[in-house]
Amino acid sequence: MATTTDAPAGRAVSGEDNLFTIEDLSVTYPSTDGASRGVTALEHINLNVGKGEFVSVVGPSGCGKSTLLSTVSGLLTGFDGRITVRGDTITGPHPNVGVVFQEESTFPWRNVLKNVEFGLEMRGLGKEERRKRALDMLSLVGLEDFVRSYPHHLSGGMKQRVAIARTLVMEPSILLLDEPFGALDEQTRIILGEELLRIQRALDQTVLLITHNIQEAILLSNRVVVLSARPGRMKAVVNIDLPAERDSTLLATDEFAVLVGKVWSVLREESLKAFAQEQKQDQTNHEETAHA
Ligand SMILES: Nc1ncnc2c1ncn2[C@@H]1O[C@H](COP(=O)(O)OP(=O)(O)O)[C@@H](O)[C@H]1O
Ligand SMILES: [Mg+2]
Repeated sequence: MATTTDAPAGRAVSGEDNLFTIEDLSVTYPSTDGASRGVTALEHINLNVGKGEFVSVVGPSGCGKSTLLSTVSGLLTGFDGRITVRGDTITGPHPNVGVVFQEESTFPWRNVLKNVEFGLEMRGLGKEERRKRALDMLSLVGLEDFVRSYPHHLSGGMKQRVAIARTLVMEPSILLLDEPFGALDEQTRIILGEELLRIQRALDQTVLLITHNIQEAILLSNRVVVLSARPGRMKAVVNIDLPAERDSTLLATDEFAVLVGKVWSVLREESLKAFAQEQKQDQTNHEETAHA
C-alpha cells in the first residue's frame, strides 16, 4: 500500500459525493514478442474523487500517468481492478467525461472555430448558439484572432489551446486532462490554469489533471497524488489546504513553498529511481545491440 504523507488515498467521501472511484487498478501492457512479461505500467491504484474536487497526479516520466488517464476515460480496457462513475463500472467512453490528451488532437480538416463547434454540433445545438459558445471559449483561451485558421497553421501550443477549448465548451461534469499545458510558455500556462479553475468552480466540475509541473498541481488542486517510478503506485497524497478562492499570487507565499517542498521531496526520490531505471534500460539495449 502507498505511504501517504497527509491523507488516506481515497478521501472518505460518502456514497453520493463520490463521483468516480478507481479500485485496485493495475495495468500491464502485453509484450510485443510474446516471450517476455510485458510492461506493468500501474499497480494497485486506489482513488476516490468527490464531486467538485480537483485532483492532480504527478510522477516521474514513464510511470504510467497517461495510462491512468486512458483507463479512467474508458479508452483503455483489459486492466485489473474497477473504475466507476457514479457507481457505474466504466467499460468505454462516458458521455459526461471530457478528455484533453497529451498529444494535441485537433481535426486538421476543420478550422479552429469548427473544431470547437464540433461536439456542440453533434449534440444538435443550433448554429447561432454553438457559434456564440465556441467564440466565447476561443476568446477565453486567447485564440479569437485565429478562428478561421486551420490547425496546420498554428503552433503546438495554439493547437493545444484549441483542443482545450473544444473539450471545455462541452461543459463536461468530469474533466480528464493529460498535461494540457505542456506545450505552453510559463505565463500562458499560469493564466490558462487560473481560467480553468474559474470554469471548474463555476460548473462545479470534477477534474483529474496529469501534470509534470508541481506548482501547477498545487495551485489548482484540492489534493495532489504522487506516483512512484514505474510501475506507478500511489506514493503519497498531499492535501492542499489553500483557500478555495485562489490565484497565482499564492505562488510567492511561504505556505505555497512548504507544499512544493512536500511534493518535491517524494517526487525527487521517485524521479531519481526512474532515472536509474532508464539508464539501466539504455545499457541493456546497448548490450543487446552489441550482441546482435
Ligand atoms: N501502448 C503501449 N504499449 C506498451 N507499452 C506502453 C504503451 N503505452 C505506454 N507504455 C509503457 O508504459 C509505461 C507508462 O507509460 P505512460 O503511461 O505513457 O507514462 P507517463 O505518461 O507517466 O510518462 C512506459 O514504460 C511506456 O513505455
Ligand atoms: Mg504521459
